[in-house]
Amino acid sequence: MIKTRRLLIATGGGDCPGLNAVIRAIVKKAVGQYSWEVIGSINAFNGVLMDPMELKPLDLAAVSGIHVKGGTILGTTNRCGPFQWPVERSDGSWELVDRSGEMIERLGRLGIDAVINIGGDGSQLISQRLFEQGLNIIGVPKTIDNDLSATDFTFGYQTAVEVVTDAVDKLVTTASSHHRIMVLEVMGRDAGWIALGAAVAGGADVALIPEIPYRIGSVMTKISERIQRGRGFAIVIVAEGARAVDGDVIASQSEEVGYQNKVLGGVGRWVAGQIKEQVPDLEIRLTVLGHLQRGGIPCAFDRILATQFGVAAVEAVKAEIFGHMVAYRHPDVVTIPIKEAISQYNHVGLNSNLIKTARGLNICLGD
Ligand code: F6P
Repeated sequence: MIKTRRLLIATGGGDCPGLNAVIRAIVKKAVGQYSWEVIGSINAFNGVLMDPMELKPLDLAAVSGIHVKGGTILGTTNRCGPFQWPVERSDGSWELVDRSGEMIERLGRLGIDAVINIGGDGSQLISQRLFEQGLNIIGVPKTIDNDLSATDFTFGYQTAVEVVTDAVDKLVTTASSHHRIMVLEVMGRDAGWIALGAAVAGGADVALIPEIPYRIGSVMTKISERIQRGRGFAIVIVAEGARAVDGDVIASQSEEVGYQNKVLGGVGRWVAGQIKEQVPDLEIRLTVLGHLQRGGIPCAFDRILATQFGVAAVEAVKAEIFGHMVAYRHPDVVTIPIKEAISQYNHVGLNSNLIKTARGLNICLGD
């Protein structure tokens, strides 16, 4: 039984509202109650791998009041990382090298007893691999996309839905004044939780999500119905990962060194173009919300969940259940093996209640 005294925490992957609330909760519990030391690694684990290392001691003063702030005081990145560290070759090209063993050694030299890694599926895959190499690590899930299956909700999701719902409310007033079709592209690479949640909350007419390949004909039928009923406007929400039945997602390859994901975006413009092509008389406008969905103050739900996760993560360290991730299973916060947590994606279930609710409201889902 080790007596943990020095913790390292890192925030990895895309940022999301609530990260600072987790950091604060970890420090309040670990420093304030157990008198442990907490050190933050700057920009995910990259801080440990830099020369000199980029670390931030986290005492109670450092985290005071940060739970209301968006982003992360530690910085984050979805590039590089211990298993894929970019090294420039003499010809100017880049290769990605595995520095995980070296990172674990560096942590040993720092006297780190345990690590808490706050991040989405990519970051938790890193946690699992580091755990398999012997690192004492606990995962804390985050993502606005709500696409991790092990937890009922990830923090950041509710805040993102608030942002999108607010946008829908605003688009309704201008759309109804101008009798326009408003297409709103939102985040959601592989899961349509944000699009669908905001469609129900905001009263959209169409929601196109990655889980249900769409036919533009269905969208047109819905829009025609609206026009015939004299409503004169429509709100169409499109998740960035949505695709037509006979098409693929609209994505490009990033030029940023070490960036692994495809860059999604453009499906909103494509859908707007298709609608215009079918009914040239309609006035159509496109809004792409982009990173507005990830920024700003976390809503109360996300602050509470993030804080619960932070406290539970420290308790998991104390209990030495390493290789586990904290998760929300209403009304409890539990711990589950990270391996299990990342094995399944949290897609919107086609028979889920949210889908039934959307269909019950006559929201067109494109099928
Ligand atoms: O994972 C959350 C997410 O917001 C996705 O919906 C989006 O595609 C991606 O992050 C964008 O990430 P970034 O611009 O930070 O690379």
